[in-house]
Amino acid sequence: MSKEEEYLNPKKTITSRRLRLNPEIRKIFKETTLNVDNFIAPIFVCFGENKKIPIQSMPNQYQISIDKLEDEIFELKQLGISSVILFGIPEKKDFLGSDNFSDNGIVPSAIRIIKNKFPEIIVISDLCFCEYTDHGHCGVINLPEAEFYQPNLEEGYLLNQETLKVLNDAALIHANAGADIIAPSGMIDGTVRSLRTHLDTNGFEKVAIMNYSVKYKSSLYEPFRDAAESSPSFGDRSQYQMDFSNRREAIKKVKEDYENGVDIIMVKPAMFYQDVIRELRDNFELPICAYQVSGEYSMIHNAASNNLIDLNQAILESLLSIKRSGADLIITYFAKEISNMLKQNGEI
Ligand code: PBG
Ligand code: ZN
Repeated sequence: MSKEEEYLNPKKTITSRRLRLNPEIRKIFKETTLNVDNFIAPIFVCFGENKKIPIQSMPNQYQISIDKLEDEIFELKQLGISSVILFGIPEKKDFLGSDNFSDNGIVPSAIRIIKNKFPEIIVISDLCFCEYTDHGHCGVINLPEAEFYQPNLEEGYLLNQETLKVLNDAALIHANAGADIIAPSGMIDGTVRSLRTHLDTNGFEKVAIMNYSVKYKSSLYEPFRDAAESSPSFGDRSQYQMDFSNRREAIKKVKEDYENGVDIIMVKPAMFYQDVIRELRDNFELPICAYQVSGEYSMIHNAASNNLIDLNQAILESLLSIKRSGADLIITYFAKEISNMLKQNGEI
């Protein structure tokens, strides 16, 4: 037999095609499926009445005022979505970001409204300060006029210990308002240890911590900063967010969080970082949440509106690939779309 004949010999051809012949058979061999329970819907909430302000950089996404929260949650519930993550747009920003740790701040108010009407909804509160500070950085900044100014550190440097203190304050306020899960997103060193201790000693041992353990300094957050009005007014976040060339560092970060009692780890962004999700899945037993960020969302939307790709197909493929990489939970701005699709396919 010639090489070619040998290759074409049906007895020798290994094929998996017979398991792909029709939708029914493909369905029973699916290795990964999506479940609406695993999607977390982000909500941008602001003060005011009857506001639904379109976010320019993110098609179909809005800042909504707190009086519209109930309707929003109701809609999500109808679709089968049971958890949300809240991002607040405060009325006014200041040096410390005090809206984030005041009882009547935007996020604590939103948590109360949701929990009051829908106690069964899992409310995750993002704990970062960049939406609340007038300088747009994720914590307390070293400035000469501040009482804790440290002359040996440069001006504008993010002060770690001071930031941990305000994070602790904010966490208590959010927990007290009824948050089920606190999600510190600032990549501040020592966050998990400090928060866990502070929550436990104040009677909130039931509140879980989902740390943004592995958050890369990414170009993909740009649309979000428009949405949450949180761009830094000077410099960038490369001193506290991770360099995207690093993979080992991700393992090191998660190890540290694991030892300090983190409940869920987050990898962010999701796409572009799926090797990291897989690596962490293989190395740790912790639940992993992946955040399909604003840039991923808007890229898919823009490609679809230019007729380059089909929107629904791309949504499904992107989310499935994130799940296949090893994520248990996925935060996605496509939460409603994907839930609708799953519903239509009779999968829920
Ligand atoms: C706050 C925060 C950011 C995102 C979530 N929480 C932005 C940032 O670090 O600038 C980004 C989410 C997204 O892009 O969808 N630190
Ligand atoms: Zn931040």
